[in-house]
Parts: sequence; C-alpha cells; structure tokens
Amino acid sequence: MFCVFLLLFTLTGRFPGAYSFQETRGVHDSMITKVMPKTMKAVGLYKYLPIAETESLLNLEVPIPTLRSTDLLVEVKATAVNPIDTKQRAPKPVPPAQQFEQFPRILGWDGAGIIASKGENTKYFNVGDEVFFTADLRRNGSNAQYVAIDEVMVGVKPKNFTFEQAAAMPLTTVTAYESLYDRLLLSENDKGKTLLIINSGGGVGSVASQLAKNLGLKVIGTAARPETEAFSLQHGVDIVLNHTKDLLPQLEAHGYGNGVEFILVNYDPYPYWNTIMAAAKPQGRICLIVDSSGLVDIRQLKDKSLTLVSEMMATRIKYDTEDKNRYHEIFEDVTRMFEAGVLKSTLTKTMSPINAENLREAHRLLEEKKVIGKIVLSGF
Ligand SMILES: *[C@@H]1O[C@H](CO)[C@@H](O)[C@H](O)[C@H]1NC(C)=O
Ligand SMILES: *[C@@H]1O[C@H](CO)[C@@H](O)[C@H](O)[C@H]1NC(C)=O
Ligand SMILES: *[C@@H]1O[C@H](CO)[C@@H](O)[C@H](O)[C@H]1NC(C)=O
Repeated sequence: MFCVFLLLFTLTGRFPGAYSFQETRGVHDSMITKVMPKTMKAVGLYKYLPIAETESLLNLEVPIPTLRSTDLLVEVKATAVNPIDTKQRAPKPVPPAQQFEQFPRILGWDGAGIIASKGENTKYFNVGDEVFFTADLRRNGSNAQYVAIDEVMVGVKPKNFTFEQAAAMPLTTVTAYESLYDRLLLSENDKGKTLLIINSGGGVGSVASQLAKNLGLKVIGTAARPETEAFSLQHGVDIVLNHTKDLLPQLEAHGYGNGVEFILVNYDPYPYWNTIMAAAKPQGRICLIVDSSGLVDIRQLKDKSLTLVSEMMATRIKYDTEDKNRYHEIFEDVTRMFEAGVLKSTLTKTMSPINAENLREAHRLLEEKKVIGKIVLSGF
C-alpha cells in the first residue's frame, strides 16, 4: 500500500486521497475494504452571515482533502461545535464586499473518527485507528466526511468512549491542559494551593477544574445560573462564586481575603481586570484565554510581582514551533486520564446527522449562550 502510495505521489505530485483510492484499496491493503469516494459531503460557507440566514451554513459536495506529508486523513464520525466556530462564521468587521470566500470554507475543529490514509512522514498512527482530534483554524475542518490534519493534533480515542463522547473533548481539553500545565506551570507541587477559574461552567472551565482538582488544588469557580453552578460542582469545583456580583467580598467570605495563587480567566478579562489584580496573591500567576475587549493596565502587575500569561490552543501548529509534538504528548496523557475515569467527557447534547440544518441549530444554541457542556453532531 505504502509503495503504491509513494509511486502515485511521485507520478502525480499529489496524494491519492485527493481523488481516488480505487486502484490501491482492497488489493494491497486488506484492512481497507471500503472504496474511497472522489468527493464527500461537507457543511461550509461562502459568506459570513448571521445564523438566522439559511446561507450561513450550506450543504456541499466537495473533493476529499489532499494530504500534506505529516497529515492524517480522518473519516469523521462525530464533530463538536465550539464558540470559535460561531466567531469564525459570524459577519466580519470588514466592508460587505469582503464578507465572502471564493472557495468554500469548512468549519469544525474538534472531532472523532477513523484514520483513512496517512502522509509519508507520519509516525504515530495506522490506517484504521480510532482517534479524536482538534485542528488548525486556517485549514478546513471537521464538518465534513473527511478531514486532513497534522498528526500531532490527533490522539488515540479513549477505548471506552463513543465517537460522540470523544469528539466533545479535544479542543477544550488541550486548551485547559496547556493553560494549567504549560502556561500557569501547575504541577503536583502545587497541591493545596488555590486556582480561581472565572467562568468555570463553560467548555474549557469544566475540563480545567477537573485537571486542577486531580493535581490536588483547591478550585474556586464562578457561574451565574443554577445550571452552570451545578455543572461546575460536578466537574471538580469546590466553591462556586456568583460572577454577576463583586467577586472580592465573596472570596473574603470564603476565607480567601488574602487572595489566590492562580487565576484562569475564561472570559473577557476587561471587566474583571481590577478584581483579578486584587484577587491574585503576591507572585501569583494569571492566564488569559479570551481576547480582552479593552486595554488593561499591566503596570498593576509589578507591585505584587504577578505573572501574566496567555493561551491560544493552535499557536504551536500555526507557528510550527519546535515543540509542536507537545500536542501529541498532551493527547497521550489525556487519553490515559479519560480511560482511567479521572477526566470525564462534558458532552451534554448529541444531534444527527451532520448537515447544515443541524449545524445551524447548534450554532444558534451556542450564540444564545444557554448551552451547558458540549454539543456534538454525528453521522452523515
Ligand atoms: C476548503 O475546501 C474547499 C472545498 O474543497 C476548497 O476549495 C478550499 O480551498 C479549502 N480551503 C482550504 C483552506 O484548504
Ligand atoms: C447570581 O446573582 C444574580 C443577581 O443577584 C441572581 O439573579 C442569580 O440567581 C445568582 N445566581 C445563582 C446561581 O445563585
Ligand atoms: C471509562 O472507564 C473509566 C474506568 O473504568 C470509567 O471511570 C469511566 O466512567 C469510563 N468512561 C465512559 C465514558 O464510559
């Protein structure tokens, strides 16, 4: 199979995934009995429109994506929807004439499926492996029957997870993991210290709280609704504050008048900035994962020697950093945690099939900000 693959690549300069596997499948690779189609179903957009418009997400038939040398081609079984999808799909702050793409754009950067083929420089996986993955924002995503992804952004699907349960997790889990371990530099040595998670009931918050709890930290969360308060408590948060009210007196009432060592801000930091500066203990660390809607005063960091860090999930792949294999290590660690039951899937809603109608409904629910946990779509 591999030789034929290379030969085809040499002759055509393209990977066979781009058009046809008929010649190679079934004959050379007994694992694969399925004949690859030339095209696939996908949901995409040409125009950045409000979700109420039917053209905001369209059912399309497009070519199977071509592979780069370190890519895997994954047959998508389930795809999750994240706030990043709605932000990418929404109208852009540019003139109307620039609100469209010449070629369709396929969203979705979180999913699970089965490896259908692989590039010649891949080393971690085999065709047929069941995997879950997140992805590079600049490329086409998982709202399609097949997606091409750099293999470092792929992990082995936890054995006892359904494709839906697995698809719900990669983007939020990698973000939460990088925030805690790589940015806030938390470890087992921080046992007994306190992490404040502003907005603990969301996708990243509900994974970060579980990870921090597992490290032995005390976790204080914030929520505004009884449902998000309950969701936080079910995912490792010890104390939930109400973020519609001033957090400082609430911290004091719980015995944290002297502040907390670590703060993870899963929300626009701008309205919370003075609170964050006051709530951080001397030499504390603060991690931001959401864009600030305004300028904040970093001069306030100096007096207490505070450390401010940022987390953007796709940085390592976007800038092709030397340590981009870190994603692979993170996936190995979290698969182990899911299989051991120390990390739980945050899936709360499944829709089927994966089509424009259901994806528009999922985006609409996310934009209403009433969703708790993750929405996953499965099947075509
Ligand atoms: C996304 O897919 C469409 C349809 O195949 C293609 O025209 C477009 O070039 C792709 N975009 C990227 C960024 O690869
Ligand atoms: C948070 O406070 C607001 C405003 O006082 C209140 O309406 C809401 O019910 C509170 N939330 C919880 C979970 O208690
Ligand atoms: C997977 O297995 C672990 C360990 O037995 C268990 O705690 C966890 O609940 C299981 N997860 C699912 C989704 O079945």
